[in-house]
Amino acid sequence: MNKKWWHDKVAYQIYPKSFYDSNGDGIGDIPGIISKLDYLQDLGIDIIWLSPCYRSPLADQGYDISDYYDIDPRFGTMEDMERLIAEAKKRNMYILMDLVVNHCSDEHEWFKKACEDPDGKYGNFFYLRDKKEGELPTNWRSYFGGPVWEDLPGTSKQYLHLFHKKQPDLNWENPEVREEIYKNINWWLDKGLGGFRIDAIINIKKALPLRDYEPDRVDGLSSVHKMLADASGVGTFLGEMRDRTFKKYDAFSVGEVFNEKEEELPEFIGENGYFSTMFDFNETIFGGSEKGWYDAAPITPDDYKKCCFETQRKIGDIGFVSNIIENHDEPRGVSRYIPEGDCCPESKKMLAALNFMLRGLPFIYQGQELGMENVPFRSIEEVDDISSLDEYKVALEAGCTPEEALNAVRRFSRDNARTPMQWTSGENAGFTTGEPWLKPNPNYTSINAASQENDPDSVRSFYKKLISLRKNPEYKETIVYGTLEPLWEDRHNLMAYYRKGDKTLLVIGNYQRDMQSVTLPSPFRKILLNNYPDMTAEGLTVTLHSYQILILEL
Ligand code: GLC
Ligand code: CA
Repeated sequence: MNKKWWHDKVAYQIYPKSFYDSNGDGIGDIPGIISKLDYLQDLGIDIIWLSPCYRSPLADQGYDISDYYDIDPRFGTMEDMERLIAEAKKRNMYILMDLVVNHCSDEHEWFKKACEDPDGKYGNFFYLRDKKEGELPTNWRSYFGGPVWEDLPGTSKQYLHLFHKKQPDLNWENPEVREEIYKNINWWLDKGLGGFRIDAIINIKKALPLRDYEPDRVDGLSSVHKMLADASGVGTFLGEMRDRTFKKYDAFSVGEVFNEKEEELPEFIGENGYFSTMFDFNETIFGGSEKGWYDAAPITPDDYKKCCFETQRKIGDIGFVSNIIENHDEPRGVSRYIPEGDCCPESKKMLAALNFMLRGLPFIYQGQELGMENVPFRSIEEVDDISSLDEYKVALEAGCTPEEALNAVRRFSRDNARTPMQWTSGENAGFTTGEPWLKPNPNYTSINAASQENDPDSVRSFYKKLISLRKNPEYKETIVYGTLEPLWEDRHNLMAYYRKGDKTLLVIGNYQRDMQSVTLPSPFRKILLNNYPDMTAEGLTVTLHSYQILILEL
C-alpha cells in the first residue's frame, strides 16, 4: 500500500453548534472552536472535521446550505474560518469541512431561481416533475418521513427531496451543477483546507427513469434504499469529482457511504479510489429495521465483534476504512455498545481501545473522549432533531404507546450526540454563558473535561494514551499498517485480535461484567495498555477483570 500523509493521523469530529459558545448566544461557534484547539492538540488530534457551518437556515442543522461560499453568522465570519485554518496549521492540524452536495437548501439562490423560472437554467439544477392531481411522480419515502415530492412554490411542478423538504436534491446529471460544485470545492481547498467529509454522497445517483418501487410500510411508500440499489453509475460522478478537485491538492476525503457493493470497494477506497477513505457503519446499522427505530434490535457484544471483524475482512488491504464509535447522527456509543447498566469508566475504555486499535483511521466524536452518554429525555418536547420527531410519529402510528415511542427515541435519537459538549461542572456544562440551544445532559456535573484533564485514570486520559500509542515510533508501523487477525473468535463476550507488523500486538477485551480467563498463545513481552492497575496472570493464563482491556506486545 502506498503511504499517504493522513494514514497515521487521528481525527476528531466537531459539531460546531454544540462545541463551545464564545459569545453567550447559546450556539457554539468558530471562535469557540479556535479557543479549544489547544485542548484538542493536548489530546493528540491531527485532523478536525467540522459539521457544516456554511450559511444555512439550519432546518437540518446546517446540512441544508443556502450559500456554499459563506459562513453562517451564528457560527462566525469568513475571517473566523480563515483564522481557524491558520491556527490549526500552526499546530500541525488539518481542517476538514463537510461537503453537502446531494442537496442544497430551498433558500439557496439556485432554488429560488428555479421557482421563478422552472423551465430555465436553474430548473434543471433540480429534479422537477409536472404536478398531477392525486398522483406523485414516484412513491419514495424521504429519509425524514413522508413523500420525497413537494410542490415547487408558485409553479405547477414538484421537486424531489430525499431528505427534508427544505433540502431539494441537486441534479448531478446536469454538468452545470457538477461544475458549480467542483468550483466551490476548489475554492475551499485554495483556502488551505485539508479536505472534506462527504455527506450522503451515495444519493447523488438516482435510478433513471424515476419509477415506483414495492411499498414497504402502511403509508404505501417505498424506502429510498430500493431505488438506490437499483441505480448504477455513481462512480462516473465520483471519479470526475476526485480528478477535478481533491486529487490536484492531495486532499483528504472521507465518504459517508452506505450500502456499497463489496466488489466496488477498490474503486471507492483502493489506490486512486474516489475517496481517501470511508466510514465503517457496519456496527451502526446493525439491528436496523425497515419499520423504524421502534422495531430495531439491540446489539450484543458478540454482534459488535462480528460487525468489526466483518468489515476488517472485507477491506483487508484494499484501503483504509475510518472507524467510529459514534457521530452526530448516532446515539452515544457507550450507551449503545455497552450492555445496559454496565456503562462505567472501565467499560468505556475497553470499547475505546477495541475500536481504536482496529486497522484504519480512528475518528473521535466530540465528548466521546469523556465517555459522554445518551440523554434521559423526559418527553418528546426535549427533542429537537427532525428525524427523531419523525421516528416518534412512526412508532405511534405503528401502535406503540407514547412511552414506547419515547423509548425508541431515547435509544436512537441523533440529539443524544448533539447536546452541548461537557466542559465543566459549572452552569450549562461550561458550554455557554447564555441559554443553550439544546439542554446539556444532566450528568455533566460528573462527566466533564475539567475533571478529567488532570486525572490520570479518566476516560480522557485513556484516550490520550491510546493516541500516543498509535504515534509511538516503536509501534506506529504495526498499528497503522499491520494486519488484523481475530483470535478466539467464537469465545462469548470476548473480543481479541492481533495486529501484526514489525511487532506483534495482541488486543484482548473482556466484554462482560464477569471475569474471564484466556490462555495466551505465547508469552508477552510488555503490557502496552491496561485499563486496570494490575493484570492477573499465571503462566500463560490471564484472568481478566470486568471489562478489562489489555494491549500486549508478544
Ligand atoms: C448525512 C448527515 C446528516 C444529515 C443528512 C442529510 O447523513 O450526516 O446529519 O441529516 O446527511 O444531509
Ligand atoms: Ca455563539
